[in-house]
Amino acid sequence: MAVKLINRAALAKAENIAIGIPEEQGKWNLTPALLAELKKVRQWGDLPEKAGKMLVYYPPGKTPRRLLIYQLGKTKDLSLEKIRRAVGTIMKKAMELKLREVVFDVDSFCWHRTQPSEVAQAMSLAAPLSTYRFREFKARTKTAKPVRAPGLVLATKSPSTCTRSVRIGEVIAEAVNYARTLANRPGNALFPQALAQEARQLARKNQKLFLRVMQKQELHSQGFGALLAVGAGSVRPPVLIEMIYRGGQAGQRPVVLVGKGITFDSGGISLKPSSKMEEMRFDMSGAATVLGILQAVAQLKLPINLVGIIPAAENMPSGSATRPGDIVRSLSGTTIEILNTDAEGRLVLADGITYALRHKPASLIDFATLTGAVISALGYQATGLITNQEKLGNEILAAGQASGERAWQLPLWEEYKELMKSDVADIANIANKSGAGTITGAVFLERFVKDTPWVHLDIAGTAWGETGPIFEKGATGVGVRMIMEWLLHGPARG
Ligand code: BES
Ligand code: MN
Ligand code: ZN
Repeated sequence: MAVKLINRAALAKAENIAIGIPEEQGKWNLTPALLAELKKVRQWGDLPEKAGKMLVYYPPGKTPRRLLIYQLGKTKDLSLEKIRRAVGTIMKKAMELKLREVVFDVDSFCWHRTQPSEVAQAMSLAAPLSTYRFREFKARTKTAKPVRAPGLVLATKSPSTCTRSVRIGEVIAEAVNYARTLANRPGNALFPQALAQEARQLARKNQKLFLRVMQKQELHSQGFGALLAVGAGSVRPPVLIEMIYRGGQAGQRPVVLVGKGITFDSGGISLKPSSKMEEMRFDMSGAATVLGILQAVAQLKLPINLVGIIPAAENMPSGSATRPGDIVRSLSGTTIEILNTDAEGRLVLADGITYALRHKPASLIDFATLTGAVISALGYQATGLITNQEKLGNEILAAGQASGERAWQLPLWEEYKELMKSDVADIANIANKSGAGTITGAVFLERFVKDTPWVHLDIAGTAWGETGPIFEKGATGVGVRMIMEWLLHGPARG
């Protein structure tokens, strides 16, 4: 739904107004009419005092009917991420109250030298994220009407300076929600062909997107041995999805994104335990993120060249499945001893990365729910980042910090490379010692990346989660906001 930008003077006629108040009362930035209301509430002792708390207040008189007062906390602790959470909290409350529309007094949420445009972007991003609900599989009955998201109106002294940033926020939010929807779909609805069909629809909607889908037969003839090995046990054949966006100059090397597209990961013959196995429907979250980024970049018409590569397969046990001990020849020619069929992400990525190199990437970024070990290392708070080029790695870390999707770096030292040796093939798909599972996964990938500047993002801990101020339980679309931040501000455009 389109965000409306209005002049702050129009607050006088608004029905539902949301305002932010910092803990330091001298720093309140309110219109005289609202300040008078707030002073009353303060006298009564009802103002929310703890950061993150809010009060719904019904002032006497005609407008506003409702005042949603949000305690921002100390200005020295404020950040755009805090604003996004504030907006999420307020919008969720507004949805509960079934409000048709909420008018945010943008200026009241600004602090120090923060520009209204930055705050407005944070708001137009966070609101649609917080009101997103995955309802595709809920039967529609008369009693259970779909919940409607309240409309978002942003009031500020300088609406004209916010137009572009509000648009950016909206486009990114739509892309994140698109990625969430794809990732939320169960394995019986979203399998490799269905993912390719989604990519086809995306390409059809955007003139600057070009799509190629390679089917099983072609994968065979081209030698995608690793991808085929992962898909071998499933009745749903694997595919390779390639999407190209041309917004930059013809000769300009592209940024290439590779997303793990395991539409369901049972573990294969190395079967996973049944507890929480249903969560492995999210094992194509990396692929969803890649499609989300392509959608956002195309909608914003960014002046860059960008390629998305998605090796997609379903990892299942069966009579035709790959066995532990099998040796396969990857697209690169490197042979792989598959000691554990549950380490399948790195196999499909190996072929995806090798294929990606044909585009001569300026930089290569992969997104993968690759290892449970990254959850042991970082929990659910951060994406694991591993790179072969510190400069690129630092750019992505900074973009993560700025966007609220944080990553934390793990090392890729020489010593770890010993661990992936195979007795009989060029490389094994699991380490020969326990420990450092996230790093050894990256060591495996690096062999296929070679010298290309590369960042590996292990999103196993961040791709889905519990309900919070911005998200509902389920897929998060992690990576879209981070990489959009980088593409908009960060990358050296070589
Ligand atoms: N998709 C899983 C990783 C995963 C596990 C993501 C839990 C999110 C939550 C991946 O394919 C996998 O099974 N990895 C193995 C690798 C091991 C066999 C070397 C793992 O992490 O146990
Ligand atoms: Mn697995
Ligand atoms: Zn997996």
